Amino acid sequence: MKILSGYGIILLACLSVFFPSAASGAPAEENYQFYCAQCHGLKGKADGPNAVESQPVSPRDHTSASEMNKLTDEDIINAIEGGGAATSKSVLMPPFGKTLTKAEIAALKDYLRKLCKCKGK
Ligand code: HEC
Repeated sequence: MKILSGYGIILLACLSVFFPSAASGAPAEENYQFYCAQCHGLKGKADGPNAVESQPVSPRDHTSASEMNKLTDEDIINAIEGGGAATSKSVLMPPFGKTLTKAEIAALKDYLRKLCKCKGK
């Protein structure tokens, strides 16, 4: 029994890592790992399996404050919603406006700001 209750605590700890604030609705980190990580990497370092050298552009490194500070919050939201085409960037960045809700996109923007530890322009 002692061992089992120990697992309970570990499980709770894991849940709170993945769902830091249940109140904010869609877990941005989960969306990120599902939709974005194959290019931008699980931790946002632009090292996902699809970020191969043969690609003409590399995905934005979301952990780089100097790169991400060039973007306003609006730029980030536009890029996620409309993809590279909407922001005159590479079309390799797909649009997610039909896949994700506005709230989910806004939450992803906040998540990216956490990754880069930056506020943008
Ligand atoms: C198929 C690969 C791919 C996927 C999936 C992808 N991206 Fe990108 N993303 C890119 C590439 C490539 C760029 C760089 C475009 C450029 O610099 O021209 C980029 C750039 C960006 C930028 C910077 C845009 C700018 O104006 O500089 C943001 C923000 C971004 N992605 C967010 C996301 C988010 C959030 C997701 C998931 C919802 C996602 N991306 C999914 C490939 C991808």
